[in-house]
Amino acid sequence: MGCGMSSRFLEGRVAVVTGAAHGIGAACARVYAEAGAVVVVSDVDAAGGAATAAAIPGARFLRCDVSKAADCAALIGQAVAAHGRIDILHANAGIELCRSIWDTTDEEWDRILAINLSGSFWCARDAMKAMRAAGTKGVVTLTASPHAFVTSREIAAYAATKAGQVGLMRAMALEGAPFGIRVNAVLPGATDTPMLQREAESSGDPAALLATFAAAQPMGRLVRPEEVARVAAFLASDAASGVTGTCVAADGGLMAAINAGAGISYTGETR
Ligand SMILES: NC(=O)c1ccc[n+]([C@@H]2O[C@H](COP(=O)([O-])OP(=O)(O)OC[C@H]3O[C@@H](n4cnc5c(N)ncnc54)[C@H](O)[C@@H]3O)[C@@H](O)[C@H]2O)c1
Repeated sequence: MGCGMSSRFLEGRVAVVTGAAHGIGAACARVYAEAGAVVVVSDVDAAGGAATAAAIPGARFLRCDVSKAADCAALIGQAVAAHGRIDILHANAGIELCRSIWDTTDEEWDRILAINLSGSFWCARDAMKAMRAAGTKGVVTLTASPHAFVTSREIAAYAATKAGQVGLMRAMALEGAPFGIRVNAVLPGATDTPMLQREAESSGDPAALLATFAAAQPMGRLVRPEEVARVAAFLASDAASGVTGTCVAADGGLMAAINAGAGISYTGETR
């Protein structure tokens, strides 16, 4: 990274990333490690998480289903036991639900809230307690989404969780600040990950939906996971020492544009 920073600008920092088996989380784990961090790859997918960790020098895998408070507490406890402290907690794990309010069931609502919002809270709160107890001036980053601010039809519960994460991020930034703990959110645009590919495949015309996502971003293409990860690495670095309580987008210009009408239809239906 430029600005006089060495390429090992996270040397020796302990970074825990949830949802790091695949997609954006895996890219964050790789980029943190390239910058010198000791990485804990965490995911509910044990095989995927172990494979991702095995490809990153010095990384370990710890399984955690972030929808369970006890799993989150155990993850933070095990990371501290293994490495002595946590410098960076990246609450990235998330699922998507392309469903209108008309069709969203109670069970679907509860599940996405538990993973995307409660999971972020439990991991971040427990990591911040560990940072505070150890006097670590740590960094917490949430992977939120432009859906926190602008949204579409057929994605109501997801948008609610992402807006909730941003509110939570601001509140945690205020309460972390007296202890030197910074809390921010990264907002990826439509990013080329397994999540987006699954979403495309479940639509009537996968290629058309991916093209629509790419065209909706003024850069005219999908964002790459590494482009999100480099923003997260900046937020975790000392170069961002004055940055807390804010969102940084890697969205290819998505939120700068007026997207007229009701936006993208995920299912092809409009009701
Ligand atoms: N891909 C995009 O276009 C995009 C855009 C904006 C925001 N995001 C957000 O980025 C984050 C990562 O998304 P992605 O695109 O890399 O998705 P992905 O599905 O490719 O990867 C998500 C990872 O989270 C894990 N996960 C799912 N449920 C979990 C649970 N209960 N506990 C622990 N891990 C769990 C999965 O196993 C997977 O490894 C999510 O929070 C998502 O909402 C993605």
